[in-house]
Amino acid sequence: MASYDVIIIGSGPGGYVCAIRCAQRGLKTAIVEGRETLGGTCLNVGCIPSKALLHASHMLHEAEHNFATMGLKGKSPSVDWKQMLTYKEDTIGQNTKGVEFLMKKNKIDWLKGWGSIPEVGRVKVGDEVHEAKSIIIASGSEPASLPGVEVDEKVVVTSTGALELGKIPKKLVVIGAGVIGLELGSVYKRLGAEVEVIEFLDAITPGMDAEVQRQFQKILVKQGISFTMGAAVQKVETTKTKAKVHYKLRKDDSDQVVDADVVLVATGRKPYVEGLGLEALGIKMTKRGQIAVDAHWQTNVPGIYAIGDVIEGPMLAHKAEDEGMAAADQIAGHHGHVNYGVIPGVIYTHPEVGNVGETEETLKEQGRKYKVGKFSFMGNGRAKANFAGDGFVKILADAETDRILGAHIIGPAAGDLIHEICVAMEFGASAEDLALTCHAHPTYSEAVREAALACGLGAIHA
Ligand code: NAI
Repeated sequence: MASYDVIIIGSGPGGYVCAIRCAQRGLKTAIVEGRETLGGTCLNVGCIPSKALLHASHMLHEAEHNFATMGLKGKSPSVDWKQMLTYKEDTIGQNTKGVEFLMKKNKIDWLKGWGSIPEVGRVKVGDEVHEAKSIIIASGSEPASLPGVEVDEKVVVTSTGALELGKIPKKLVVIGAGVIGLELGSVYKRLGAEVEVIEFLDAITPGMDAEVQRQFQKILVKQGISFTMGAAVQKVETTKTKAKVHYKLRKDDSDQVVDADVVLVATGRKPYVEGLGLEALGIKMTKRGQIAVDAHWQTNVPGIYAIGDVIEGPMLAHKAEDEGMAAADQIAGHHGHVNYGVIPGVIYTHPEVGNVGETEETLKEQGRKYKVGKFSFMGNGRAKANFAGDGFVKILADAETDRILGAHIIGPAAGDLIHEICVAMEFGASAEDLALTCHAHPTYSEAVREAALACGLGAIHA
């Protein structure tokens, strides 16, 4: 029996980052992973492979739509799908090997196999039982199932199957206008598929600022993605190569059906806790099937912690990473901290969408007085030169104190730009602080400064 200070179950961004931090704190650490490679959903079948396909398909879009205008003539590239998948696999491989290297560098043992917790202080992997003073569950999430819909990962797929389709479908129906549906829908639209998104609610991307939702949907429609809103999918019938998606329209209660070559089910994810032995341990769960933890990520069973998608909060890799570092600090006797008010969200479509903090809707709900500073990328010279004038930066600041409360960006590099505002919020900055900060010209970042200026006397280029 090997003995450790900490054993972490799951090697996704939450688990492996936590393991490195534990090692940095001088704790003897092991990580349990049953997949062939480290990195969890994010590196193997999530964030990283989808970004490779988004990048490749965006390059194709640029070649087809903007090259000629820039004086770049010649035949546009055609799609070699097999090669694109090879590129995606190479990207995954580089990243998962990178994590393996980091484990070795930090002297973290990889216990290969699926882990369970037979009793407090013990982790079983295969036939072997290991001892640990602290156990951290970082086992992530899996796609939530939808009644009446059977996933075969060929015709009816989750995000996992959508990353390795045999061929580009003629017609793709996406169930759910959330992050996964819109990112992968964009990929296949750019690669030539007809894409229809069926969404239960009346707005896309639940929880996002409503103005951003509307503008984002308009941009996606302009790109050729069609939306059927207010529609609840009831069932999907399949033959070997085709599917029929049955849904009910809320406005008139009518039953509708649409044909598809591939159906992507993107209706949310749920914590993956199967086989861990939580029930026998008496670990408390929330009503939504998440592991309940205290402010220090400890479950009701002392010595057992949980982080990432298995606990409450947004299912985001970077939220899991932050919790991983903080839980490690806590276990090592330091003070771990996560500021849940400043966790950015990014959608990697083109244009990108980035958001952090409060929305206009949440501020209204709280009855708070706020002001809005908005600036369109149409007024940004760099964006115009790069065919990226669609979208805007919107900053929400307290009406009295001018403190930044949230920001919402649709536009070029929104996923990077949002971090300027995250840092400002961490420091309790006012919109004026941002507006007084010199921004290099010509950059997309100037649009952020202009939105901050718009919270005061007004933007310059509007
Ligand atoms: P989601 O929760 O973001 O969206 C699911 C959508 O499906 C909702 O709009 C919901 O109203 C709709 N829906 C549910 N049942 C339906 C039905 N029967 N008929 C029609 N529509 C229905 O879930 P998604 O996109 O699957 O993502 C799962 C998780 O993964 C999210 O927490 C997301 O944040 C995370 N993720 C984050 C990424 C990023 O940060 N870029 C990328 C991919 C995933």
